[in-house]
Amino acid sequence: MNDKIIDGKEISSQIKSEIKSATEILKSEKGITPGLAFILAGEDPASKVYVRNKGRACSELGFYSVTESLPENVSEIELLKLIDKFNRDDKIHGILVQLPLPSHINERKIIEAIDHKKDVDGFHPLNTGKMMTGEKCFLPCTPYGITELLKRKNIRTDGMNTVVIGRSNIVGKPVANLLLRKEFNSTVTVCHSRTKDIKEVCLTADIIIAAIGKAQFVKKDFIKEGCVIIDVGINRTEDSNAKTGYRMTGDVDFEDCFEKCGMITPVPGGVGPMTIAMLMKNTFDSAKGVIYER
Ligand SMILES: NC(=O)c1ccc[n+]([C@@H]2O[C@H](COP(=O)([O-])OP(=O)(O)OC[C@H]3O[C@@H](n4cnc5c(N)ncnc54)[C@H](OP(=O)(O)O)[C@@H]3O)[C@@H](O)[C@H]2O)c1
Repeated sequence: MNDKIIDGKEISSQIKSEIKSATEILKSEKGITPGLAFILAGEDPASKVYVRNKGRACSELGFYSVTESLPENVSEIELLKLIDKFNRDDKIHGILVQLPLPSHINERKIIEAIDHKKDVDGFHPLNTGKMMTGEKCFLPCTPYGITELLKRKNIRTDGMNTVVIGRSNIVGKPVANLLLRKEFNSTVTVCHSRTKDIKEVCLTADIIIAAIGKAQFVKKDFIKEGCVIIDVGINRTEDSNAKTGYRMTGDVDFEDCFEKCGMITPVPGGVGPMTIAMLMKNTFDSAKGVIYER
């Protein structure tokens, strides 16, 4: 693959193969098989695909996994009961409730019901708080995957200007927080829908992390020569040449930025596969007792 392309598929395969070997050792030496429980509520097709792909990764790595698919009209109480069952199940080291949940369910209440020691998505407020203060905790998978891509590609972050576009709780805010850590020492600016002149801010960036959910928002006139671009966005764009009638595009106009940038993640095949790999890493670390003692 071209040197400029940050191949998330390849890096995630390396990570998964490291986890697979470590899992064999964990099984043979300690008799522990990492176990992950998925809870899927409703019929959202994208959520079904995500859960299926994560389940596949579990079988690839030799993990135990179980999926509970619940109807759209499932009650909050039923969901809470299921979470409680998995919280008390010793075979389960990670619980993942696929978001978004049906609109009548209080998402916060559900996330907070998960034992924080099994919160492999890193969304529980206890883990979020520990992340802020730099304590050992489960890191949210997409931001964790982004920092791992930067590390494994030896992309310099120290003293670099990083512009994060998007301030969501699952991507923008946590990735900004991680890159502020002494481990990365980046100077971080976070943009959102009320930021004045995003283009001007982006032009100061050595690294841009785009997580807004707007297809091809970042164009070449947003970036300075040599800028590293991490494209988190997943958008469906109409394409009459594609069999399905659409194709997946990121928040960055890849073709437009390619010549001018230093490196770039493709969509698909960039950040997406890293998110799954880091979910597997969190589950493995949970089973091994690396984050919280077992
Ligand atoms: N690859 C992966 O594994 C992965 C994982 C998670 C998400 N994603 C994708 O990443 C994208 C972002 O996801 P998310 O959950 O972070 O999204 P989100 O919760 O919808 O947040 C979007 C953020 O972008 C900002 N924004 C929206 N339009 C903007 C604009 N025109 N200019 C500047 N900022 C703008 C919003 O600003 P305000 O706060 O001001 O509204 C908000 O902070 C989506 O495409 C999602 O599918 C991918």
